[in-house]
Amino acid sequence: MATNTPAMKSWRCAALAAALLLAAAPAPALDPALQQAVARGGQLFQHETFGGGGRVCETCHLGGGLRPGQRPDGAPMPSLANAAAVFPRVGPDGHSLITLSDQVRACVGGAVKGKAPAYGSEDLNALVAYVSSLSQGKVLDMGGEPK
Ligand code: HEC
Repeated sequence: MATNTPAMKSWRCAALAAALLLAAAPAPALDPALQQAVARGGQLFQHETFGGGGRVCETCHLGGGLRPGQRPDGAPMPSLANAAAVFPRVGPDGHSLITLSDQVRACVGGAVKGKAPAYGSEDLNALVAYVSSLSQGKVLDMGGEPK
């Protein structure tokens, strides 16, 4: 079978051009309300202590969550770069589910030693929106490993 006819060559050229165009196309803009929530969540992530002892998310989740993190004892931990793509996950008891909201609240209450924002609150939604924005475009890998 002829694999290199002029027709096939031009088809391949067109496919390549389309792929390049797609790769160069900017990601579609977020809805302004989502953009606002992500921005607010980013501010909280960097600065909000939630009434705790001074820690913020950024204390452990470095580079806005995109760089590998560091526990207070110096031990490394994964970044949050795909965090939103691996939730929900199964908890240590082997049957309960932990959602991204649960995890964020657990970090505020435990790691930050603050008062966790209520489910449905603007603060929790903003933090979840911000952490989710870090995983934008990542392949969903429910129950998978953080990277
Ligand atoms: C004192 C350090 C520390 C602080 C501060 C902290 N975290 Fe965490 N965070 C951790 C540790 C350790 C883990 C992973 C282990 C675990 O499940 O507890 C984690 C896990 C997470 C995960 C899940 C990551 C994954 O893919 O498994 C998310 C999301 C997260 N934190 C968000 C936050 C947010 C948002 C804040 C601020 C409100 C915050 N964390 C503050 C230490 C911290």
